Amino acid sequence: MKKDTFYITTPIYYPSGNWHIGTCYTTVICDAIARFNRLVGKDVFFLTGTDEHGQKMETKAQSVGVSPKEFIDPIVEDLKTIWTMLDVSYDKFIRTTDEYHVKAVQKIFRKLYEQGDIYKSSYEGWYCTDCESFWTETQLKDGKCPDCGRTVHIEKEESYFFRLSAYADRILELYRNNPGFLEPSSRVNEMVNNFIKPGLQDLCVSRKSVKWGIPVDFDPEQTVYVWIDALPNYLTALGYMSDDESLFKKYWPANVHMVGKEIVRFHAIIWPAILMALGIEMPERIYGHGWLLIGGDKLSKSKQDNVKTELTDPKDFVERYGSDALRYYLLREIPFGSDGAYSNVAFLTRINNDLANDLGNLVSRTTAMIDKYFGGVLPAAGDSFVYDEDLKTIAGGVFSEVKTALDNFNAPKALTEIFRLIGRANKYIDETMPWVLAKDETKKGALATVMYNLSECIRIAAVNLLPFIPKAAHEILSLYGIESSSVKNLEEESSFGKLKAGVTVIKSRPIFPRIDVQKECKDIEELMTSRHEEKIKEQKKEIKD
Ligand code: ME8
Ligand code: MG
Repeated sequence: MKKDTFYITTPIYYPSGNWHIGTCYTTVICDAIARFNRLVGKDVFFLTGTDEHGQKMETKAQSVGVSPKEFIDPIVEDLKTIWTMLDVSYDKFIRTTDEYHVKAVQKIFRKLYEQGDIYKSSYEGWYCTDCESFWTETQLKDGKCPDCGRTVHIEKEESYFFRLSAYADRILELYRNNPGFLEPSSRVNEMVNNFIKPGLQDLCVSRKSVKWGIPVDFDPEQTVYVWIDALPNYLTALGYMSDDESLFKKYWPANVHMVGKEIVRFHAIIWPAILMALGIEMPERIYGHGWLLIGGDKLSKSKQDNVKTELTDPKDFVERYGSDALRYYLLREIPFGSDGAYSNVAFLTRINNDLANDLGNLVSRTTAMIDKYFGGVLPAAGDSFVYDEDLKTIAGGVFSEVKTALDNFNAPKALTEIFRLIGRANKYIDETMPWVLAKDETKKGALATVMYNLSECIRIAAVNLLPFIPKAAHEILSLYGIESSSVKNLEEESSFGKLKAGVTVIKSRPIFPRIDVQKECKDIEELMTSRHEEKIKEQKKEIKD
């Protein structure tokens, strides 16, 4: 297994409507993990992109009277803008309409056909247009799509099939031999009991009726249907089946495909089968995360308009509270692997408590005291306190705690550990009472120790926060004259005592201003109500015109 490279992917997103904070979840987690791995010296390739073909896009574009590409382009641009606003440091953005992807998919399809893994037949089944999924009778929930609850209809047509049924045993063996392949592990049982044990059926992989897709090059009446188009993006983005496969050779197999739980089935069953058929090594891990819920429901592009009081547009968050606030919330508040409920109150309370109070106060109090007592120059540590050892132990242990947590993709745990240090440092201020020490000239050495130790805690917290809240971490480090881009070896930078006495310390502005939660909630509700009324007015006007 490769050692110094780290290949991490988000799913490719359907550009079918307005982006919301739920869609940011997968990508923000991946970004934190990608940033962390770069800081521990890995050569990281972080892939994201858009999944642009299919019936749904065709229908949506038609309904507004434009071509699919015209419909999609601005939505893709908008997504890229959001990623820039949120400091998402992807290395490549793949669009399934990109020429190299189209060509490679055609080659993959042909190869699978020629070797007998794909064959022509005809299909009849219950079809959900929105999810682009065929369902068996037993999978339907009250006769409706089990994923989105919409109505399904019978469809029958000539199409190509992938021999998924032939891979059931090998997939079970894959799970058995690689206990970490699919996480959280509860999802393995779900795959085995709900899908593999009842029997895997061959998979419809082309459509005659859908025009907006990649043509099967040896049978152009057919277009490649979702699976063989979307899933191989993880390969084609690296140049697989192109003239230059050097990135593929360097980065494959993926270290992790991060996906929402509703698409685990595709990634843990269909994707391994496709890779087996192609004779390609398995990814190391599939991680299926939970959903961001609002009012008990999964926040989704189609249901977003029903949300009348909560903020859901990522741009609103960035404009009102800064990108780090949204990143922090997504990374900290949602128990990893489980669902998490969003509310304005929960969000505002979380950033007030953790960012404005715990982190913000520690930084502003400490830098203000260094300014006041030492003229803005960091003193060397003098006399020590009984509290020092505990503080230094926690500070010295932060990196390994963060690493263990993030190696398991557990961002909330990593942040909890960093904030344990921040909390300990705040307590250290209460224990040592520097404002009392400052009144006594003989305690100057002790006061210096407090300032130095607090600054070290701040520095260590800040370097470890770089993957999570890069802007704030950068700003905090710059107060101590440290350039965040110079942090190359996080482990080394996390040891206590690296900060040089004598450096100039800048008195911090409030990095995360405290928010009046009640007033802010009221403002948000007013904003949402007026937007909603505006939308209704527009719709009425459209109907009149
Ligand atoms: O599934 N909470 O695209 P997509 C958490 N094109 N995550 C959410 C979420 C929420 N409320 N809403 C969406 C697709 N996501 C396919 C993938 S991959 C070869 C093809 C996450 O736009 C969702 O779980 O519907 C998924 O990880 C990502 O957003 C893209 O979803
Ligand atoms: Mg979806």
